[in-house]
Amino acid sequence: QVAAASGHSVVLVDQSDEILKKSTKGIEESLKRVTKKKFADKPEAGAEFIKKTLKNLTTSTDAASVVHSTDLVIEAIVENLEVKNELFKTLDKFAPEHTIFASNTSSLQITKMANATTRQDRFGGLHFFNPVPMMKLVEVIKTPMTSQKTFESLVDFSKAVGKSPVSCKDTPGFIVNRLLVPYMMEAVRLFERGDASKEDIDVAMKLGAGYPMGPFELLDYVGLDTSKYIIDGWHSLEPNNPLFAPSPLLNKLVEEKKLGKKTGEGFYKYK
Ligand code: 3HC
Repeated sequence: QVAAASGHSVVLVDQSDEILKKSTKGIEESLKRVTKKKFADKPEAGAEFIKKTLKNLTTSTDAASVVHSTDLVIEAIVENLEVKNELFKTLDKFAPEHTIFASNTSSLQITKMANATTRQDRFGGLHFFNPVPMMKLVEVIKTPMTSQKTFESLVDFSKAVGKSPVSCKDTPGFIVNRLLVPYMMEAVRLFERGDASKEDIDVAMKLGAGYPMGPFELLDYVGLDTSKYIIDGWHSLEPNNPLFAPSPLLNKLVEEKKLGKKTGEGFYKYK
């Protein structure tokens, strides 16, 4: 959405036409929200902006067949290294020499993905934040093999889509999640110990620390499955780090398929 809105030609790839239809509808809804504010006094210009943005966006269910005409691939599939590597290996065969590969992973090592391809120097991380149209940050991740030229291209691209890039080495959680995920897990542990209610913890962090959402609201927003993937991955890397300890409550909710806002229930219920 943000790439198309800033004039880039985008192919959105997913597993089925049904998912692509749902995604396109989501983008249309989000564009309407963005436009309402940006073109408050000029509804016609707003309608033109939406039309132009959607014109820049096409869809496909076959990544290998569309990658030949791309300069940049941004992968944002399931947070599973084997599945990601399988995709990157395939795309590496069909992509042009110059094409840069980037992953939007929240927690996996970029280096491990780069090593699944033959373009380690043209591989980096581009980590966006939910909701992407609103959040200004992008973390640009440089592995020891990422070339300076690739890194600069990723920084330039981030600026071209209207974001403010920061750079970080390929370390677990980069900057934001390395601080945010242990904080959210500490909130769950505080609640599990019965020290405070989840409602009070959320109010406390909003009114006492100025956060736009409390930790339980944010966990539901990000998705409890995603949060569990992240913490489980880090726990397996550093089993003795108490900040990365799994939470029985989070595990229980995920097992019950209460994954947050997207399934209608997580820590809270949604209509
Ligand atoms: N698309 C377009 N616009 C959107 C949007 C979307 N998906 N979601 C919200 N907005 C817009 C609304 O239209 C509204 O615009 P307006 O000011 O013109 O009315 C504006 O954002 C504010 O939205 P709301 O009034 O509905 O609600 P809030 O004031 O609570 O803001 C929020 C919503 C921007 C999500 C805010 O609560 C927030 O900043 N929350 C924290 C988000 C955060 O921490 N994100 C990072 C998560 S971690 C992550 O993503 C990393 C991953 O790897 C796990």
